[in-house]
Amino acid sequence: MDFGDDSPKLALITGASSGIGTAVALKLAEEGHHLYLIGRSVDSLHNVEEDCRNTYMEFQHDKSLVQHGIGDVGDERDCERLVDACVSHFKGRAPDVAVLNAGVGRPGAVDETTVEDFDLIMKTNVKGVFLFMRKLLPLMKARGSGQIVVTSSVLGLRTCEKAAVYCASKYAVEGLVDATRKDFAGTGVKLGVCNPAAVATPWWESKQRGGWEKGEADTSNFLTADDVAEGIMSIIKQSPMCDIGRVVMENVTVKKRRRVDEEGEGKQLAGTGDMHMT
Ligand SMILES: NC(=O)c1ccc[n+]([C@@H]2O[C@H](COP(=O)([O-])OP(=O)(O)OC[C@H]3O[C@@H](n4cnc5c(N)ncnc54)[C@H](OP(=O)(O)O)[C@@H]3O)[C@@H](O)[C@H]2O)c1
Repeated sequence: MDFGDDSPKLALITGASSGIGTAVALKLAEEGHHLYLIGRSVDSLHNVEEDCRNTYMEFQHDKSLVQHGIGDVGDERDCERLVDACVSHFKGRAPDVAVLNAGVGRPGAVDETTVEDFDLIMKTNVKGVFLFMRKLLPLMKARGSGQIVVTSSVLGLRTCEKAAVYCASKYAVEGLVDATRKDFAGTGVKLGVCNPAAVATPWWESKQRGGWEKGEADTSNFLTADDVAEGIMSIIKQSPMCDIGRVVMENVTVKKRRRVDEEGEGKQLAGTGDMHMT
């Protein structure tokens, strides 16, 4: 995407109601880019929308430049409805940027994972990305430009204990994006993934999102949502001549722990892909 021409871009962000998605939304708002924010938590999305509007003066005069839509990213009809609503709200304009970030996890080995949880993780993390890519790519290709960034994980590149299905979902996303980069090479549409290590977000506050039970995970040394938003912004704002496929964001503190773990003194913290001293 050519961000050098200073014109505001239109960005669609899934999982914008919390954590990394909110941080990306605020960074784009600071620069005056127009936003379509997607999630299911109505109150949280309203709050993020207001925070984005308060971040940039022009949004105070025209609140419609930041808009949200409610829906389940893994539901085909919701995806169709949300992208159509975004394009229609912005007067026929297809998003210049899509940050496909919504995701969910559950700790556990395969024999500790229910079929319902398998379906939920795959529906959200894989089908959700597939549906939005499938809907957005033809629009971006027809215009001859666009940038899609998918929030994967370091667990899309290496596995860890007690997160088998989550790892599988992120490996699937890697394949989806990598193959699609080949299919859309030369069209002006770019795709990239961001692979963060553990990030201190509400994810870790609830087993229903992906973390351990509240209070069990010590997030004090994790990356911040802002760190990851910077990584995602580096893909979005790359020069027109550049095509960044991946930004891997390790955690310097935890990497030191991994060396200890490799010597057999540590234990892997399930769900993070990083090592945690016990
Ligand atoms: N936190 C980490 O340690 C970490 C590390 C590496 C990668 N990641 C990845 O980063 C992404 C964002 O995670 P986060 O840490 O920011 O977690 P988070 O704070 O729990 O946010 C998750 C977001 O995804 C949305 N979401 C979940 N299921 C959805 C669905 N079916 N339909 C629509 N929206 C849905 C949630 O919105 P609603 O609640 O409004 O539905 C929320 O906005 C995920 O893809 C995750 O796999 C996280």
